[in-house]
Amino acid sequence: MLYLKSDSEIEKIRDASRIAAEAMLRVREVVKIGCSTNELDAVAAKYISNQGANASALNYRGYPKSICTSINNEIVHGIPGPRQLLNGDIISVDIAVNKNGFHGDMNVTMLVGQVKEDVQKLVETTQTCLELGLAESTPDKRIGDIGHCVQSHAEKCGYSVVREYCGHGIGREFHEEPQLLHYGSRNTGRRLQIGMVFTIEPMINAGNKETCLLEDNWTAVTADGSLSAQFEHTVAVTANGPDILTRFEDLPF
Ligand code: MF3
Ligand code: CO
Repeated sequence: MLYLKSDSEIEKIRDASRIAAEAMLRVREVVKIGCSTNELDAVAAKYISNQGANASALNYRGYPKSICTSINNEIVHGIPGPRQLLNGDIISVDIAVNKNGFHGDMNVTMLVGQVKEDVQKLVETTQTCLELGLAESTPDKRIGDIGHCVQSHAEKCGYSVVREYCGHGIGREFHEEPQLLHYGSRNTGRRLQIGMVFTIEPMINAGNKETCLLEDNWTAVTADGSLSAQFEHTVAVTANGPDILTRFEDLPF
């Protein structure tokens, strides 16, 4: 079942999203060489609960922490722990928040210390892939148009798109319909409709697209050990175009 959202429901998703973006800013402020991912989790968890909200990830299908932190070759769903950040690392931070029964979900890849130029290029390209997908999120387009734009830009730059994990509808549930693949062909898939709210969250690998799951049954890594970056926003399809619910004028994401 795909639930189209009313304007007032969209505002509730925006409220949850604002807390996610504010938590993200606080995490970014403490991302430094020597900082552990447990510390990042604690910063986000504290901020979210102080806002009277819940971290959507916590206890989701048994997930043990409030945020996901995926370093270097880790693609997605890395679990915070004692691991400390090193100079030159990249870390994707995923924060989703539930406030008053509605969820907002976002992800930012951050640079630690001095990062090599080719690594920075991967991160910038991934961010551009997300922006291209967001721009397609209008009622005259289809789901496949979004995937097509993400995939063609990533592959043009020599990178690959992860297939096993995708974007998702979001609202009263953390994961709803529609499923949003980050690859595909123009003019295919479900037509976008006013009131659809979903995430776009491309995971782009420097090497090939293949993934492996670690023993913790959460952390996905690149099969070839190459780096992977991710960015995510929650977006509503409106008559006036894409409304990026996790983006705010006073916040840098
Ligand atoms: N943005 C990620 C997703 O939608 C967050 C997952 S949280 C987890 O898959 F609990 F599932 F890890
Ligand atoms: Co998501």
